[in-house]
Amino acid sequence: MSGLIGTSVPRRDALAKVTGAARYAEDLVVEGAWFGLTVRSTEARARLLGIDRDPAFDWSRAVVVTAADIPGENVVHLIEDDQPALVADEIRHHAEAVVLVAAPDPATARAARAAIRLRTEPLAPVLDLLAAEAAFARYEIAKGDLGAGFAEADLIVEGAYRVGHQEHVYIEPQAMVAVPEADGGITVTGSLQCPYYVHAALARALALDPARVRVVQAETGGGFGGKEEYPSMLACHAALLARAAGRPVRMTYDRHEDIAATTKRHPAVVRHRTGVTSDGRLVAQDIEVIMDAGAYATLSPVVLSRGALHATGPYRCPNVRVRARAVRTNTPPNGAFRGFGAPQTELAAEVHLARIAEALEVPAAELRRRLAYREGDVTATGQVLRHSVAAIDVLERAEEASDFVAERARTARARESRLLDAARAGTGSRGLHPGAERIASGVGLALGWHGAGFTGSGEKALASRAAIELAGDGRIRVLTAQTEIGQGAATVLPQIAADVLGVPAESVEPAPLDTALIPNSGPTVASRTTMVVGGLVADAARDLRAQVEARAGGPFVDNYRQDALTHGPTRVDARFEGYPGIEWDQEHYRGDAYPAYSWAAAVAFVDVDLDSGQVAVQRVVAVDEVGRVVNPLLAAGQVEGGTLQAVGYATIEEMGVVDGRYRNDRLATYLVPTALDAPAIEAHLLEVPFPDAPHGAKGLGELPMDVGAPAVIDAIHDATGAWVTELPATPARVLAAIRALEEDRHGEPVDEGVP
Ligand code: MOS
Repeated sequence: MSGLIGTSVPRRDALAKVTGAARYAEDLVVEGAWFGLTVRSTEARARLLGIDRDPAFDWSRAVVVTAADIPGENVVHLIEDDQPALVADEIRHHAEAVVLVAAPDPATARAARAAIRLRTEPLAPVLDLLAAEAAFARYEIAKGDLGAGFAEADLIVEGAYRVGHQEHVYIEPQAMVAVPEADGGITVTGSLQCPYYVHAALARALALDPARVRVVQAETGGGFGGKEEYPSMLACHAALLARAAGRPVRMTYDRHEDIAATTKRHPAVVRHRTGVTSDGRLVAQDIEVIMDAGAYATLSPVVLSRGALHATGPYRCPNVRVRARAVRTNTPPNGAFRGFGAPQTELAAEVHLARIAEALEVPAAELRRRLAYREGDVTATGQVLRHSVAAIDVLERAEEASDFVAERARTARARESRLLDAARAGTGSRGLHPGAERIASGVGLALGWHGAGFTGSGEKALASRAAIELAGDGRIRVLTAQTEIGQGAATVLPQIAADVLGVPAESVEPAPLDTALIPNSGPTVASRTTMVVGGLVADAARDLRAQVEARAGGPFVDNYRQDALTHGPTRVDARFEGYPGIEWDQEHYRGDAYPAYSWAAAVAFVDVDLDSGQVAVQRVVAVDEVGRVVNPLLAAGQVEGGTLQAVGYATIEEMGVVDGRYRNDRLATYLVPTALDAPAIEAHLLEVPFPDAPHGAKGLGELPMDVGAPAVIDAIHDATGAWVTELPATPARVLAAIRALEEDRHGEPVDEGVP
């Protein structure tokens, strides 16, 4: 080891990105490429009776592709085979792709699109997740004896929590270029997270031998899960058009189409019923999770699974039942989004725990300290947490770094004096009388956990392969399918290899993301890249180093160039074979749900405008424990980005659905935090290494997304006394929660001590 782990090696993609030299899909110059567009449904549910072409348009200037023209299976390959590449008979959601057109220039392509009419007969849509009956997946997790637990309880606390859609707002919309090859194959280059997902989808829809399908990642402007499954759809579309046109076809969504048609974070309703003893133990947790999958399964079964597995929060409880379902509605399919089901259920778990603390009249931080998992504790699936359990560490660091106890005392004094003022003036708890302070500040805390890697036996089943290669010219490169999507994979994986080889970080490069070159090391998802694939890279590098050192009889760093000249190239492949002691029973949802968990706490400071209900998040102290930190600067960037995304989710990101169509389907109406809204974020990284990974790293990318929103909701409560139980905490919801609180208090003396 050369001590590179824990150093902030500069990111490899930085220079090209800041100088504008980086080439995104839209920047690629492809000789003779046509422009592809999509004709989409305008109804949430309908029968497709026919597709009419306006005879006034000169159809020799364009190509048209419908479901009937698909040479392979009309399926976007993923978990289920339910989603067609193009609608054949039933339209199941608004903005669903029905027809594709391509033409030599954008104006002609737009004219062709406008000259196509869908003849449809409306069908009754299902739009409300609570009214939906069909489910794509159901799980039940059971531990202990729920009835006995409730019987032992002194207090039962119930709560229902609701979250809406969240849009990824990656910087670059979906984009793909397909080039037909002379041998009948296809090469697709685009903005994507998972080259082998796209590869499998193309082979099926085009009925191609996988050897004739080539997928290349262009520079990608962000993913956040949104480039996990949808690129398979767009790649199929571009490839179908390219095949029909007999030439390259480019498809790039504008922001409006991207928001209207592509996946979102799943809306959810989560209900908790919790049995608690008066000395502050959880004795029964009964949790129901309902996620809105939208019209097709996409990744919903696994999103739901992760949501269910994180739904208890990181707390000890002997008797647990989690029932979860992902229901089908006639809305665009929801899919992967940073956190993958856990942000929804952890929001509910954390807000609910704070309400339990309120009911017990104990400080919530104190209750968390008593209940949070420690080494040796057993989760709802029966997993014994044997190593790297850091819930208490992140909690205590977050309290220290934010001066939480003193800050809470300050906000409590402000709240009391506001109540006193209000009582004197005879107004409500908002104290809306002349001279009253109109801004209430609050500080809130949340704790969370995130399992890294695929769930259960998923990583073992994936059997990822990665490689390292010492080329004949002495260059060293790592070969993986892990895409750089802004998170730093292209820097961190070579850094891990360089550390093992004992060479400078610049001496190892990532191979181009091209399925013609790279082994399938699995998708770039699930906070798995650094932990799982980084571990494989470390193993392969160790083997390469040993081979060269055995031949040379001296250190790798001094000998590898000569070794390459003398012996030619050396390549070492590593295959993932599972972490020791991980057992999972998928049928009963029992066992080791994840190989390792990362831990996070966040403390949010908010100002609530008591007149308008507007929430301004001023500061967030984020503490994340992720095992060994490979690259501290990039890791802190992940914490800052995830925290900001969580702050937006908590406060202003609202999609709204009207008749199955997204209401806020433009950046003018779907608001994300800008530089002016962004709080000061302090990222603290803690390290409790994962002993079963060669480099000790756990997952990081999704973790900060789990705790930001509940910390903000807790802070709003601290400021106002009101619980907002539905995200986002818009001004209207905040005011409604305050009013409900005042109505509760109506008729009761506000404070008996008031003169
Ligand atoms: Mo994902 S949300 O890219 O696992």
